[in-house]
Amino acid sequence: MAPTDSFAEAFLAGLHARPRAIAPKWFYDQAGSELFDRICTLPEYYPTRTELALLDQHAPEMAARMGDGAEIVEFGAGASVKVRLLLQAMRTPRRFVPVDISGAHLHRAAAALRRDHPGLEVLPLAADFTADLVLPPPAGRRIGFFPGSSIGNFEPAAAEALLRRFGGWLAGGALLIGVDLIKDPDVLHAAYNDALGVTAAFNLNLLARANRELGADFDLAQWAHSAFYQPQHRRIEMHLMSRRRQRVQVAGAHFDFDEGDSVHTEHSYKYSVEGFQALARRAGFAPGAVWTDAARRFSLHWLEPAGGPAPTTPQEDMA
Ligand code: AVI
Repeated sequence: MAPTDSFAEAFLAGLHARPRAIAPKWFYDQAGSELFDRICTLPEYYPTRTELALLDQHAPEMAARMGDGAEIVEFGAGASVKVRLLLQAMRTPRRFVPVDISGAHLHRAAAALRRDHPGLEVLPLAADFTADLVLPPPAGRRIGFFPGSSIGNFEPAAAEALLRRFGGWLAGGALLIGVDLIKDPDVLHAAYNDALGVTAAFNLNLLARANRELGADFDLAQWAHSAFYQPQHRRIEMHLMSRRRQRVQVAGAHFDFDEGDSVHTEHSYKYSVEGFQALARRAGFAPGAVWTDAARRFSLHWLEPAGGPAPTTPQEDMA
């Protein structure tokens, strides 16, 4: 799908495309960001608590790698919860630059961080890092932070291109990145099909957002959340599935769906440690330390630039 920079454009293009697909970055309006925060607290959704535990346990070692006076740039910062563990472990963090597509969410989190770290410069950037991102010149060694395994929401070629662009933005600095690992499909299935239906609501919010913002008339009761592990591609696939034959109006255009037709909304790729390191190498990084939990559910990777900052490449869009 060609990259588009407005929800209206992306949504309409996604419904016209075959197979139908909307990129996952459009999940994150205010309601979607709040639903995602709830997903992160669910018992079935192991990535958040596992990554938090890894950060809690290893933050001093990570902070030592960053060095004194470093600046952290967090890509897709959301509520900026995880970075707090790093900032607490750093002796003299110079500046924190949270970048997120959801402006209101970002500014709330930035205000809370300023309150809790009075000496820290916090410079929030409401921007889409999969499109154009202009960062200020680095203040101290720039460290990229990309937690949550959001890298898994990119197709492998797009993930490699994104890492390359990170390399360019980091200007010789390192990247600390969270990566979800391949595991028992039952564990994966439960994580994306939680008992309370929060992930279903998160997925369906895409249609609710179209109703709110584009005057669409989706009847949410006629759409099902569908998420399953696809072992050949080592990814969770998420779809919205039409429960019946129906016609929907979006921004004055009509779209027909048969029972069982789907709109693809997300891929969430899972990696082995070695598989991710190979991807990082192809993107111009030299893999360093890797931290994993005892059950090897999740990993955090320290990546140094291989021979200086990587050159940037043309943009590729999310899955
Ligand atoms: C943001 N991202 C890493 C989440 C994931 O697990 O792929 C998004 C998500 N989708 C459903 N649940 C969580």
